[in-house]
Amino acid sequence: MQRLRGKRVVVTGAANGIGRAIALRLTEEGARVVLADVDEEAAGAVAAGIGESGGEAVAQKTDVTRNGDVEALVRRAVSEWGGLDVMVNNAGVGVAGTAVTTTQEEYERVMDVCVRGTFLGMKHAIPAVAASGGGSVINMSSVAALVGIVDRAVYSAAKGAILAMTRASAIDHVGEGVRVNCIAPGTVDTPWVARITSGYDDPEGARANMQARQPHGRFVTPEEIAAMAAYLASDESASVIGACMIVDGGVTAR
Ligand SMILES: NC(=O)c1ccc[n+]([C@@H]2O[C@H](COP(=O)([O-])OP(=O)(O)OC[C@H]3O[C@@H](n4cnc5c(N)ncnc54)[C@H](O)[C@@H]3O)[C@@H](O)[C@H]2O)c1
Repeated sequence: MQRLRGKRVVVTGAANGIGRAIALRLTEEGARVVLADVDEEAAGAVAAGIGESGGEAVAQKTDVTRNGDVEALVRRAVSEWGGLDVMVNNAGVGVAGTAVTTTQEEYERVMDVCVRGTFLGMKHAIPAVAASGGGSVINMSSVAALVGIVDRAVYSAAKGAILAMTRASAIDHVGEGVRVNCIAPGTVDTPWVARITSGYDDPEGARANMQARQPHGRFVTPEEIAAMAAYLASDESASVIGACMIVDGGVTAR
């Protein structure tokens, strides 16, 4: 399927997990992708793998919390390919904790990467997408924005902010032909899950609990989130604007 042929895309947090799966899927469907990540080496390895499979990708070291990095990232896509059609603001970090147990440093880190990172991604990408004739911005929220999840107070706040900013920006920019949407994944099996569970006394038990809370009894796969991102990136979703696309194995249906 080549429904993204010709699309010029940036994916943040593309070295691992969901971002990596999105970069692979979008290039398989014909898009050209800039893979942005703080981990330059891993992003470069993913881009090289895409190149070996016949896809088009380049990597750019980017810290999404830094205004200059994000500005340079968008400029790279425009200089590389002459424009930008799709921006995927996927980079994010989480922390396990309640409002009582989370430290101020953890609060600042999670809000910085998730909220400031998404804000800067939209700030610099939306004008470039509009100047390219319109396109799609995809932000990564979470089911944590929609239902109460134990031990995720600050992460939920960050993902709720992304959902609210998505809706507001969808209304602000619909007239410029820029569609802004977000995805709310359930628990997806990525390196992030291993990091979260390693903080518990019984990491294996914590992992089993994370699977059990999904009504379909398993983790969502990164590829299932990538399939939703491919739809939102494509012109098939032309009337999907300001939406929160839930891919959660039934968590929010309970
Ligand atoms: N895994 C899940 O269960 C799950 C569920 C819902 C939402 N999400 C969201 O999906 C997104 C991706 O999560 P994942 O599970 O693939 O995580 P991951 O940790 O596996 O990958 C995240 C990537 O982002 C990069 N990154 C971190 N900080 C960055 C920064 N400041 N600038 C640029 N890149 C940075 C990391 O290097 C890494 O490559 C996150 O926004 C996360 O909150 C994940």
